[in-house]
Amino acid sequence: MRASSKPFFVDIADSKTNENEQCHNDKTTKTVLVAGATGYIGRAVVSECVQQGYNTVALVRNATYITSTADGRERYADSFQGAQLVETDVEDAAALTSLIAQVADESGKPVESIISCLASPTGTRREAYAIDYQATLNCLQAGRDERVQAKHFVLLSAFCCHNPLLQLQQAKLKFESEMAAQSDMTWTSVRPTAFFKSVSGQLEAIRGGAPYVLFGDGAVTQCNPIAESELAEYMVNTITDPSKHGKILNIGGPDEPLTNQMLGNMMYQSLGMEPKFVYAPTSLFDPIINTLQWIADKTGEEKWQDAAETVSGALECEKCWLCSRTLYLTYLSPYSSFLLLYSGTHWEILCR
Ligand SMILES: NC(=O)c1ccc[n+]([C@@H]2O[C@H](COP(=O)([O-])OP(=O)(O)OC[C@H]3O[C@@H](n4cnc5c(N)ncnc54)[C@H](OP(=O)(O)O)[C@@H]3O)[C@@H](O)[C@H]2O)c1
Repeated sequence: MRASSKPFFVDIADSKTNENEQCHNDKTTKTVLVAGATGYIGRAVVSECVQQGYNTVALVRNATYITSTADGRERYADSFQGAQLVETDVEDAAALTSLIAQVADESGKPVESIISCLASPTGTRREAYAIDYQATLNCLQAGRDERVQAKHFVLLSAFCCHNPLLQLQQAKLKFESEMAAQSDMTWTSVRPTAFFKSVSGQLEAIRGGAPYVLFGDGAVTQCNPIAESELAEYMVNTITDPSKHGKILNIGGPDEPLTNQMLGNMMYQSLGMEPKFVYAPTSLFDPIINTLQWIADKTGEEKWQDAAETVSGALECEKCWLCSRTLYLTYLSPYSSFLLLYSGTHWEILCR
């Protein structure tokens, strides 16, 4: 990765921006920066910020890929329409701060908010602390810098952090506590339950004839998945809603939790196929985790620690779904229900 000392602006704006400018005059004078803009939720957040009329800046690590390759354009052009792309290295605190100060200065639009949708790809200890903690902290510190003086910070966290057994969850909590300890910026931590992309993971497998794998009896795990557009809307709305400042907010939807078996049935129904379930006991995970942890402890090698962490992560995901049945707070909308309850076309949308 490289840090650019100068902002690398690529304006993919079109007439949509001008329409928005007329509708949202107050927000067009304010800048919102989105870190982790290329992610599944980050893209939806960028799109939402543009839609709400903010001067939206998407922080990315490879702008050339996004704007100058067919693959990049296909993946990102829609989401980034109306936003400015700025290439930066979020792991380089000094360069990031200078860059954000420069962006705010050159646009003449003060930074209203920084939204972090950064997430480590693997969740291993090293990556979790580098991205979910340190790089996210770099974004917060940049916002607090006297040249930037951003007002509000929004964190994409995770519902599972209420039960922090994994390095990833601990890294997120460590950041949350530092965010809460400062008073230069107001903040909101948004902790969603499952994303659609996570619950639709088995779709391609069952389409190809493989059975749908259930843990336990298929009813022990339940979740309230949320559509990325609705999560993005909720996150962006916290900027202007003081009642959500200084809070950690759990969020999911639709209201009634779905068991894993229900999700499987919905997928089979949408594909017009007969359900074919395989039941796997959750206790299967324990010997695997224990063996990997034993090897990690014996060898002291990080790769084995990472392997144990990865399998634990899968198990904790299952448990988190179970917890979300009772603890989770709803954010309902017809769109979530619609996407979940309707036909195969919609499942395909979710899988992208
Ligand atoms: N999956 C779920 O069901 C679920 C549920 C609740 C909460 N969550 C939480 O949501 C987050 C995942 O969100 P997501 O699915 O939107 O993530 P994602 O698609 O993996 O996006 C991660 C973003 O972080 C960026 N990033 C990662 N490493 C980076 C680095 N070294 N430098 C710069 N940028 C870097 C990625 O940039 P590149 O595109 O350049 O790689 C990308 O923009 C996690 O924190 C997870 O705990 C997930």
